[in-house]
Amino acid sequence: MKAISLTGIKPTGTPHLGNYLGAIRPALDLAQQYEPVYFIADYHALTTVQDASLMRDNIYKVAATWLALGLNPEEALFYKQSDIPEIFELNWALSCITPKGFMNRAHAYKDKVAKNIEAGEDQDYGVNMGLYAYPCLMNADILIFNANVVPVGKDQKQHVEFARDIALRFNKTFAPIFTIPEPIIQEKSDVIPGLDGRKMSKSYGNTIEIFLESKALKKKIGKIVTNTQSIEEAKDPDSCHIFALYKLFASPEATESLATRYRAGGLGWGHAKAELHHLLEETFQEARTKYFHLMANPLEIEKILDYGAQKARLRAKENMEKIREALGVS
Ligand code: ADP
Ligand code: TRP
Repeated sequence: MKAISLTGIKPTGTPHLGNYLGAIRPALDLAQQYEPVYFIADYHALTTVQDASLMRDNIYKVAATWLALGLNPEEALFYKQSDIPEIFELNWALSCITPKGFMNRAHAYKDKVAKNIEAGEDQDYGVNMGLYAYPCLMNADILIFNANVVPVGKDQKQHVEFARDIALRFNKTFAPIFTIPEPIIQEKSDVIPGLDGRKMSKSYGNTIEIFLESKALKKKIGKIVTNTQSIEEAKDPDSCHIFALYKLFASPEATESLATRYRAGGLGWGHAKAELHHLLEETFQEARTKYFHLMANPLEIEKILDYGAQKARLRAKENMEKIREALGVS
């Protein structure tokens, strides 16, 4: 039996290059070596997405993205979190052995509290219980399928460490049934910069979506912030946001060649942006066609997710039986 690689993506908007490089691409690479268990974390998204038609649309987008980029639903377990009720049962059981202090220290909650205090608000202003207990549900996602590795962006490392800790506690308190998961963080792409150089994130509005039509992509790339150096001036590739994105997709030779052109002078920001545009178009051309086909045929997506849910539930049920037995409730 192959070891399991598991990860989830929240349907909170249109997937962007940060999601692709930080989460999707590394996860797909691991699918060669591990059994992939990849899912859509819709109940995690519910902490912020509270509009049914938006939720549905976001779920289609995330599902179509995984499928277009090459996830094979025959080889993978590919499902929507909300279709697996055992995850929510395990969530409760785990919450009973999770110290409340862990949640206080979880970075998303901690950041929110710090911002509230700075703004002179009550510290829990705008915090729902879903946001507060978010890492606990994530632990259930990971442990229910006994994941060996969890590929995630750097910001999620803490959550996987919680899952390790809780698995160890459970194993010690009840029975040694959980695998201790290992986070896998892509060093090369741990924080992908956005249009403004800050971490690319939907919440900063600085994203480049993975599948954009050529014109829209050009417009987005046009917004990458640069300095005021003239065309003739020699430029430093390593402090340039365009180059930072370029090198994540280009071959080492192409990267070196563009770096040389930067340093030589005579390359304007417009030229560098055109290089990036060309490279992204080429990289995603095939997947983009598949993505738009799926988005135009949501029933196809639903069929694939239903199939995945059936397969995943069989496994989740089997594991939940063992967990219930360990807890003494069955
Ligand atoms: P966003 O910040 O846009 O809301 P999510 O929180 O939905 O993105 O992230 C989904 C996955 O993509 C996570 O594993 C996260 O670590 C990864 N990720 C998101 N943005 C980046 C980024 N800029 N660089 C690297 N990984 C990222
Ligand atoms: N919290 C993750 C994010 O914001 C999404 C997620 C939910 C996840 N459950 C997971 C990632 C389990 C890995 C494993 O990106």
